[in-house]
Amino acid sequence: MGTTIFAEMSAMAVATGSVNLGQGFPDTDGPAVVAEAAAAAIMAGRGNQYPPGPGVPELRRAIAAHQQRFYGLDVNPDTEVLVTAGATEAIAAALLALTEPGDEVIAFEPYYDSYAACIALAGAVRVPVTLRPPDFRPDLDALRAAITPRTRLILLNTPHNPTGAVFSRAELTAIADLAVEHDLLVITDEVYEHMVFDGEHVPIVTLPGMAGRTVTISSAGKTFAFTGWKIGWVTGSAELVTAVRTVKQFLTFVSGGPFQYAVAEGLALPDSYYAQLNGDLRARRDLLCDGLAEAGFAVYRPAGTYFVTTDISALGETDGIAFCRSLPERAGVVAIPAAVFYDDAKAGESLVRFAFCKKPEVLEEALTRLRRGLA
Ligand SMILES: Cc1ncc(COP(=O)(O)O)c(C=O)c1O
Repeated sequence: MGTTIFAEMSAMAVATGSVNLGQGFPDTDGPAVVAEAAAAAIMAGRGNQYPPGPGVPELRRAIAAHQQRFYGLDVNPDTEVLVTAGATEAIAAALLALTEPGDEVIAFEPYYDSYAACIALAGAVRVPVTLRPPDFRPDLDALRAAITPRTRLILLNTPHNPTGAVFSRAELTAIADLAVEHDLLVITDEVYEHMVFDGEHVPIVTLPGMAGRTVTISSAGKTFAFTGWKIGWVTGSAELVTAVRTVKQFLTFVSGGPFQYAVAEGLALPDSYYAQLNGDLRARRDLLCDGLAEAGFAVYRPAGTYFVTTDISALGETDGIAFCRSLPERAGVVAIPAAVFYDDAKAGESLVRFAFCKKPEVLEEALTRLRRGLA
């Protein structure tokens, strides 16, 4: 349903000339030096033919260096890194590799829309644990209660799309302890690792007992604002990475050769790049959150990601899907009903997600339209 609603909403945005705060892609490309590195790689014939299955060595080394630089992790670039066609392929390949039909996969809902689809493709069974407003904290008792003898793994996402929640060290430690106690694997989607505005990003793999049981996923799409390049990666123990690579080999085999060289250069950018990315997004978060509150939404200010979740009950509305379908005509703005990210659609019925990874003037325009359209 998620993908369907994105297509419907994006088509509506075009048809009505709406400001599209639906899908999470930046409206400004990433650093010119990284784009130039991709162009130079193509012209120099680097990566124009099939790159190595695990990814080009330059990128694997850059990913390992990134894990060391930001998290103090020792990652072997030859055996513990796999480059994928975006985080999306990494999620699919990891789930297909690590679950058997009938295995239960626990995931916190609302979830990124590929999770349910990939769990289904693997023939596994998804078991949702619901994150609830106002702060969308993980309910550790509910998590414990969801674990059964059929549970194979926990599929984690922090910073979390769509709620913007950033799981704390204490919460992640409790989740890690449960994984160790019940001998579960963890697949953790950390594509928003550099977009944390309050608190800190803690990779669960850094916690005790997790090194051999965690598959960590990230992507250049968000960190370098090149979502169309689809360069993602997996890190983990050699055994887990080999399992994921075995599946990936028959999904895409390889992809994005020249972009891989460019992303390697991106990962080596100085701290000032990462700080600016974060600072710019934080300002946009604040701009959109303050404006939405002024327009009458109840706003759950996110600690991370590209997204803010709001509640439309405060506007006297109840049905987020109907609201989002009418918003382009009413106000000339596109948003996404959060119900599509829940199994329990009731839980997200009145929640609506807006993306703030857009130029400030675009956000201002959307807010002007919302204030006018909803008055
Ligand atoms: C939580 C989450 N995981 C994965 C992805 C996809 O990443 P990629 O574009 O690298 O496939 C997204 C993109 O929106 C996301 O929000």
